Amino acid sequence: MEKIIDENKQGEALVLDKKEGNGKKLFIESYGCQMNFSDSEIVASILSEQGYNTTQQLEEADLVLVNTCSIRDKAEQTVRKRLQKYNAVKRINPNMKVGVLGCMAERLKSKFLEEEKIVDLVVGPDAYKDLPNLLTEVDEGRDAINVILSKEETYGDISPVRLNSNGVTAFVSITRGCDNMCTFCVVPFTRGRERSRDPQSIIEEINDLWENGYKEVTLLGQNVDSYLWYGGGLKKDFDKASELQKATAVNFAKLIELCAKAQPRMRFRFSTSNPQDMTLDVIETMAKYDNICNYIHLPVQSGSDRILKAMNRLHTRQEYFELIDNIKRLIPDCAISQDMITGFPTETEEDHQDTLSLMEYVKYDFGFMFAYSERPGTLAARKLEDDIPDDVKKRRLNEIIQLQQKHSLLRTQAHVGKVEEVLIEKESKRSDKHWSGRNSQNTVVVFPKEHYKVGDFVDVKINDCTSATLIGQAIDYSKNN
Ligand code: SAH
Ligand code: F3S
Repeated sequence: MEKIIDENKQGEALVLDKKEGNGKKLFIESYGCQMNFSDSEIVASILSEQGYNTTQQLEEADLVLVNTCSIRDKAEQTVRKRLQKYNAVKRINPNMKVGVLGCMAERLKSKFLEEEKIVDLVVGPDAYKDLPNLLTEVDEGRDAINVILSKEETYGDISPVRLNSNGVTAFVSITRGCDNMCTFCVVPFTRGRERSRDPQSIIEEINDLWENGYKEVTLLGQNVDSYLWYGGGLKKDFDKASELQKATAVNFAKLIELCAKAQPRMRFRFSTSNPQDMTLDVIETMAKYDNICNYIHLPVQSGSDRILKAMNRLHTRQEYFELIDNIKRLIPDCAISQDMITGFPTETEEDHQDTLSLMEYVKYDFGFMFAYSERPGTLAARKLEDDIPDDVKKRRLNEIIQLQQKHSLLRTQAHVGKVEEVLIEKESKRSDKHWSGRNSQNTVVVFPKEHYKVGDFVDVKINDCTSATLIGQAIDYSKNN
């Protein structure tokens, strides 16, 4: 079956219903990281093969799937609340089946079936291809579960069904899992070992997206810079690869070059980069290709060497500064964003000051900041007491958020007066007379619509800004001639 299922195209979905569908409706929603949203598109594709059509109406769904996040306790609580909502709907629609996907499924396993009576199906991130079998079990009245993690699965052979798409930007996953074992992080437990996807299948997906009108792709992985393809297999076994495999191996720098060359008019971004794995050749490749965006999400978590070590982040503050210096030297206008955690066990005021001073050095364009949340099973949970009181975590969090806002404004102000290329993504939320898009640095730009349309690349003169948004006017070159 073709990729015709898209909830924005209800008409087509209905036609499909009659022709090939099984008449069943799938309601799928995602929480957490971009990878979950991308995975849901793979799940929708697998189920479309079974005849399922997606719907945006929870009440009419035969199957409800929720793709879950375990990264912080709050993320899990959000999903639990959602399950209560499903419970209420199930009273009206008793035949509705409910499945839990993603990291919470992997973390809680069969406990989910015991704790949440509404749940019929529990499927971990590497087991989505087993969904058709699992659904048969559910149809026969049994609870079904598959939380087996894989060392090979990359879903490289599945063409995702684009959900909630603006038709302009898309995610393409390139690695799965993570081998880094940061002591606070649940991801290595819920998403398993790191593995890379065949570059050929990545390029094919990108070509396909371009042919379908997409203009920007974000390559996704927990640790994209660690990407390594030598014909399959785990990164740690690369030493044992043949000479030929080694000579023809594709690392992340080569991969982004392949992408940039395959579609020279398409924009490329990637996320997430880990400081210790980001090499100079990646930055050089970014500098070499105009269509690789000047933006790096480079989480650091803390500015204190002692805390970085306790977190098992495998670099020092000084090494991070060197990386930042290299980025700014090779790509002077490169935007950089951060993730930070406040209140990691044993964090002192001095450690916190180190975080603030690191931020002063980098002056990030923006960031995602969190209070430490202890995750069961992680090394930090097993070895360290969660000893920073909530009010201290929150106060420190507020301090870094305040500082980030100051830096964000400094950064956006630096764009004012410049002309920047913007890819139009959608209508501005605030005004139906303005478009909203992003520049290369990933900053949102709004400007009057005029005759432009979604998917256009437009040169925009930036006239004003807030700490999060640039405001401008498209340049009409025809008037200058
Ligand atoms: N490499 C991943 C990181 C995933 S987690 C990626 O692709 O983005 C995203 C962010 O959540 C982390 O960078 C970290 O700042 C935060 N985080 C992870 N575990 C956390 C925890 N236990 N408590 C608070 N924040 C956490
Ligand atoms: Fe988590 Fe660290 Fe990997 S934050 S996803 S273990 S790089």
